[in-house]
Amino acid sequence: MSKEVNSESVSLCPLSTPAATEQEMLCIFGTGDLGRSLGQRLFQTGYKVVYGSRRPHSCGPLPPGTQAMSHVAAAQSARLVFVCIHRENYNFLETLAPQLKGKVLVDVSNNLKKNMYPEANAEYLQRLIPGAQVVKGFNTLSAWALQNGPSDASRQVFPIVSLIMLSLCYLPGVIAAFLQLYRGTKYKRFPDWLDRWMLCRKQLGLVALALASLHVLYTLIIPIRYYVRYRLAAHTISQIKENKTSPFDTTMAWRTDSYYVIGILGFGLYLLLGITSLPSVSNVLSWREFSFIQSKLGYLTLFFCTFHTYLYGWDKFLQPSSYKWFMLPGYMLSLVVPSVVLVLKLLLLLPCVDSTLTRIRQGWERTDPEQERKKLLLT
Ligand SMILES: Cc1cc2nc3c(=O)[nH]c(=O)nc-3n(C[C@H](O)[C@H](O)[C@H](O)COP(=O)(O)OP(=O)(O)OC[C@H]3O[C@@H](n4cnc5c(N)ncnc54)[C@H](O)[C@@H]3O)c2cc1C
Ligand SMILES: NC(=O)c1ccc[n+]([C@@H]2O[C@H](COP(=O)([O-])OP(=O)(O)OC[C@H]3O[C@@H](n4cnc5c(N)ncnc54)[C@H](OP(=O)(O)O)[C@@H]3O)[C@@H](O)[C@H]2O)c1
Ligand code: HEM
Repeated sequence: MSKEVNSESVSLCPLSTPAATEQEMLCIFGTGDLGRSLGQRLFQTGYKVVYGSRRPHSCGPLPPGTQAMSHVAAAQSARLVFVCIHRENYNFLETLAPQLKGKVLVDVSNNLKKNMYPEANAEYLQRLIPGAQVVKGFNTLSAWALQNGPSDASRQVFPIVSLIMLSLCYLPGVIAAFLQLYRGTKYKRFPDWLDRWMLCRKQLGLVALALASLHVLYTLIIPIRYYVRYRLAAHTISQIKENKTSPFDTTMAWRTDSYYVIGILGFGLYLLLGITSLPSVSNVLSWREFSFIQSKLGYLTLFFCTFHTYLYGWDKFLQPSSYKWFMLPGYMLSLVVPSVVLVLKLLLLLPCVDSTLTRIRQGWERTDPEQERKKLLLT
């Protein structure tokens, strides 16, 4: 994880006013990934946060509103100390025993392997500082999850997984085509993994369709959710009270309309693929009709769904604030495989490549001139 805190990507105002008038000070040892993410969340919940660091003046960017000090000074200023340091580096804590006496220490550490040490990390910490009260906690939270906050899983996971699975239906066909081009024949068996992958495309496709349907259903339900209606009503009322009007955003209108339209087109074709895979329907289709729908319209479906996601991202691809901790958001990651498949398919559609592939698929074989010469000599 990156060491940089992108101040644009996180809103850092406390979410609630603390119950007590005097905000409680909490101390965090370690300004690494977990320390910074935890500090950010604790600050947002209304606590004052101080970091204990080896390098308080050069420890890199910290969540705004928090400060860094030496371990000794930080430990003295709080009753609760989160030890966000790897167990391997705990030994220096022994020297802080006087400052940590009577304090509650939270051990958040995890080890790389099971049974790495004879005693648990918290027991070890307790042994180092017998005067403190050690508790274990927060070790199952990831710094990444803390940093990004809760995400509406159904809202993001369904379409993302669906798009990746759809592209995985078409990737083996593209790999097969390149393999056939490379070998110059269609009469050599594909590797087992590719054969098996090709055979499970129908199942992959149907699961992908089910997930896309959930995405569409969920999207349709969003406007009637209580939370959304409440936010909308509250926003409208506050605008009326403040006598404000938001100007009509033409770009936003284009953006949403276009990704909705392309999404609907993509979903329509997706459904067609699903319907034609029903035995009662596929049995009445000729092979040409079936492969036109599954292959040609299938790629068009993939194109629409990919384009829908690109349009959803719009200019966010160019905005640094979209890349929290320099990581790509889920929908951008989900675009990698479909984009690769579509680019490879475009290469296969180049006339010179396409004509060779068509000949190979019609039974033509590229012969090795050297082997041909040897054959002639033998006969
Ligand atoms: C909702 C949905 C439903 C789907 N239903 C079905 C379905 O019912 N049936 C289905 O098969 N797929 C189904 N799919 C998956 C996908 O649509 C098809 O497999 C589609 O035909 C893939 O097109 P393609 O051009 O990539 O590959 P293909 O049409 O397979 O073309 C690749 C080329 O590889 C060659 N080839 C393919 N298999 C082999 C092999 N084993 N050995 C040698 N050569 C081979 C052929 O020469 C072919 O020209 C479904 C997908 C979705 C999303
Ligand atoms: N990352 C996660 O998602 C996650 C999740 C659950 C639990 N954890 C646990 O949280 C702890 C910290 O993990 P992390 O990912 O935040 O690690 P990290 O990014 O490597 O940060 C560890 C911090 O410890 C301090 N440190 C390093 N070496 C030290 C030393 N020799 N002496 C004293 N302090 C030293 C450094 O802070 P200063 O430079 O400021 O001193 C450093 O930034 C680990 O025990 C880990 O198992 C992490
Ligand atoms: C009727 C058709 C569709 C409609 C109305 C629709 C609508 C939407 C909406 C409103 C969003 C934004 C969601 C948000 O704000 O979180 C979205 C995002 C997305 N859609 Fe669709 N969609 C449709 C079809 C599809 C299909 C078929 C796919 C392909 C699998 C797809 C893939 C995605 C992806 C990957 C995202 C980004 C998800 C995220 O990170 O939030 N959509 N769509």
